Amino acid sequence: MLNWNEPAAATAQTPVSAASSPTGLDAPERGAARIRVDDKRIINCRADLNQLVPFKYHWAWEKYLQGSANHWMPQEIPMGRDIELWKRRDGLTEDERTIVKRSLGFFSTADSLVANNLVLAVYRHITNPECRQYLLRQAFEEALHTHAYQYVIESLAMDEGEVFNMYREVPSVARKAEWALPFTESLGDPDFRTGTPAADQRLLRDLIAFYVCFEGIFFYTGFAQVLAMGRRNKMTGTAEQFQYILRDESIHLNFGIDVINQIKQENPHLWTAEFQATAQRTILESMALEVDYARDTLPRGVLGLNAAMIEEYLRFITNRRLAQIGLTEAFPGAENPLPWMSELVDLKKEKNFFETRVTEYRTGGALSWE
Ligand SMILES: [Fe+2]
Ligand SMILES: [Fe+2]
Repeated sequence: MLNWNEPAAATAQTPVSAASSPTGLDAPERGAARIRVDDKRIINCRADLNQLVPFKYHWAWEKYLQGSANHWMPQEIPMGRDIELWKRRDGLTEDERTIVKRSLGFFSTADSLVANNLVLAVYRHITNPECRQYLLRQAFEEALHTHAYQYVIESLAMDEGEVFNMYREVPSVARKAEWALPFTESLGDPDFRTGTPAADQRLLRDLIAFYVCFEGIFFYTGFAQVLAMGRRNKMTGTAEQFQYILRDESIHLNFGIDVINQIKQENPHLWTAEFQATAQRTILESMALEVDYARDTLPRGVLGLNAAMIEEYLRFITNRRLAQIGLTEAFPGAENPLPWMSELVDLKKEKNFFETRVTEYRTGGALSWE
């Protein structure tokens, strides 16, 4: 049973004990009392980190199962039509080519950054076993995403040096990575420990920057652009790769939101008015960078999109992100000018976007034995 009413301050002040360091690699304590569900906590957990069961955070386990059922591999997606179109001199307009290049430039390095942050930082502090089970799945999916971009870049024989250096050389791409990196510093610092209100707030702030801003806002202009291309029957292989990535990312984002809300519920003293104001400001700052990115990559209308539409879309999703973690919407009345994006995220998983192949990996674990 969940118990939201435990005194939060006691846990927040208690450093992780030697018997439950963030690694989970400590010697087992023989004869210790069995783990009870109520011993589990989302941060500063003192229970054995190697015991998945009893489950406390069912939402994390469910996302692990859901992510596994959505399994896909980049090489399964045919790229022949994309290669033919990319090579044809009149195949795409210059603006369309810019979108493909910028998207691959941003995402190819961003997903590596996400994976590094996840494995080297988040995993150290989110020690609950069912959450770690999902984090391991997420880490593998981030590897698949980086693989997908590499596969597209190689298929199209793009200039790898140009694409992989965009996050250092193209200002609107570079600013997003630069903005995100400070939020991973404390998490990755080997001396950083949660267990005091200030440290726990820092962790919470960094999780908001990582999951809500980076994965929940910075990816969405690129997703909209590449998927708009696929909807117009252009670069359909690349768009299909991005569609699977978007599907994975929507679970990553929802996992992050669940973790953030769980930390809030177990540690209400962290969620001060001042902290909420900082969180709101951080989210709006990241949205402003994403608007800049949209303007830079859409100097003119193309593929039925323009920068103003993306800006409205960003207002709409930023409202949603704010509301999902219990903050006030910043853009009352913003509407979704790209309803097809929601349809893609919520798509039934049996068939892909372009209805070419079945992509269901649900196997034994999901069979009923009754
Ligand atoms: Fe990813
Ligand atoms: Fe992700």
